[in-house]
Parts: sequence; C-alpha cells; structure tokens
Amino acid sequence: MSQIKIADLPIHRIKRVLSEEQATELVGTVVPDYEPTCNEAGIWIDDDTEEIVFVYFPMPDEVNILRKAVLNIKYGETIRQSTGLKNKSRTFGMAPRKIYQKRESCRPTTLAQEQPMEHAVLVKFAEKFADMYKEFAPHLYENDKKNLADAGLDDEWRMTDDALWTSGVVNKSSTLPYHRDGFNFATWSAMPVIRKNMAGGYLTIPEYNFTCSCRDGWVTFFAGYKYVHGVTPMSPKTKDAYRYSIVYYALRGMKDCFTYAVETAKAKERRTAREDKMAAVLKGEAEAPVFR
Ligand SMILES: [Fe+2]
Repeated sequence: MSQIKIADLPIHRIKRVLSEEQATELVGTVVPDYEPTCNEAGIWIDDDTEEIVFVYFPMPDEVNILRKAVLNIKYGETIRQSTGLKNKSRTFGMAPRKIYQKRESCRPTTLAQEQPMEHAVLVKFAEKFADMYKEFAPHLYENDKKNLADAGLDDEWRMTDDALWTSGVVNKSSTLPYHRDGFNFATWSAMPVIRKNMAGGYLTIPEYNFTCSCRDGWVTFFAGYKYVHGVTPMSPKTKDAYRYSIVYYALRGMKDCFTYAVETAKAKERRTAREDKMAAVLKGEAEAPVFR
C-alpha cells in the first residue's frame, strides 16, 4: 500500500457539544466504554470556528519500523499519583531538570543510552510527524514553533531541528482518564498507535463527542494541551494482545534549560556542592537539610 497523500485527506465537520469549562469538570474521571465515531482517515474541523481539531491517517510504509522499535523497548511501571492507576511507559527524547529526583540537568532520557537503536527510530519519527504536520496545517506548525521560541525554548532541546517536540512517551496498554496535557507547551502532539488483538483503547475528546479508533499503524494529531482527552477501557482478545500509543510533545520543563554544555557543567557544580554539604553534615560541621 502506498503512502496516503495528506492533500487528499477528506474534511469532516464536527460540532462542539461541551464548553471548555464543562470539559474541565471531566478531568480525572474514567472514560466510558465509547465506540469510535472516527474510523477513517481525514481532517476534522470545528463547524463553527473552522479550526482544525483532529487529523488521522495511516502510515503503511513505516508502521513496521515503529512496531519493531516499540515492541523491543523495556518498559518501567509507574503508578499515577492522581488516579492510582498503573502505567507502563517509557519516555524518550529530552528530559527536563528535576532536582528532587537528583537529576541535575536537562539531558537525553535513559532510553537514548540504553536502547540507542530504538531511540533513534522514535526520534526519526519525530521528524516525519513534523513534516506531516507542516503539510496539513503549515500555519499551525509555524504558530507552534513561534510559541516555543517566544517561551524561550532553546532549539537544542528539540529532538531534531525540524521536530517541534522535545520529548515523548510510549504508553503500554494504558487507559488514561480524562486530562489535558498540562506539562506541555502550546503545541500540537502527534500520537501514532501500534496495536494487536486489543479491543477498546480509543481516544476520546468529549468537547466534540469524538472518539477515534486509533487503528494499528495510524497516526493522530491534535492539541492535547487544549482539549480534554482520555482513552477508553481496553480488553485483550488474546494473550499476546497489545496497544501502544507513542505521544510526541514539547515539555514545558525545558524552558529553563540552557545549552547542553552549560547544563552539564552546572549539574557537576551542583552535585559537587551537594556532596560537600553531605560530607560536612556527616562530619558534624553542618546541619542536615530538611526535606519537605
Ligand atoms: Fe494526553
């Protein structure tokens, strides 16, 4: 099957059914078992404002490269504090500074060192998705790029020169409650899905009563920072069933990053200072820090 031409994508019109405020009330709640309202490729446009809300199409030529990388990745398990739900996922691209986790600088996520081949594939796809985005909505792409520059995000922190995104996450069979991508800059996200023998796991945007089937090897684009969205429950049909979503986004935490070199130097300085302090505490020359 040859690659779909973005210029030929059909336009579908959808109507807003909830206000932003009404959608906000859904945040944190579990997504019902909705059936998809969106099963075919296209561009969905708000019937009143003419704004593009959602874009969805297959990528048959590339899907197996992405599948191979995604199936090879080793996933960690985290429990979401807000919901208590278990989530198996792995981040890629760049990671922001998080002093409380003793990660002192912005740097590539551990996947880049531990599984460089798989990481390289995910990064390559960031470029492909940025090119696709540029093609179906050049004005939105330019606007997002300007938002990032205005917010002070250094170019170095994007995954590649042309990609908008700093980072991403691969979610393994994760049912996500309604949320907005609050940690992200105001950029659209790209989200391809890889799946096999898994029912459910559809992406829902309640503001438009819109549920996307997220077929295997198809990619979705939408403004996850703007619209409340969530994932419908999943049920495996076979033992080896899976559903992975790969989300590309621009993390807001990167805004505080300097260039990579400066960051690395600063990390070392801070680590040395902390070690000196700890040594002083151990020798009884300083008081132990209070952690809150
Ligand atoms: Fe999200």
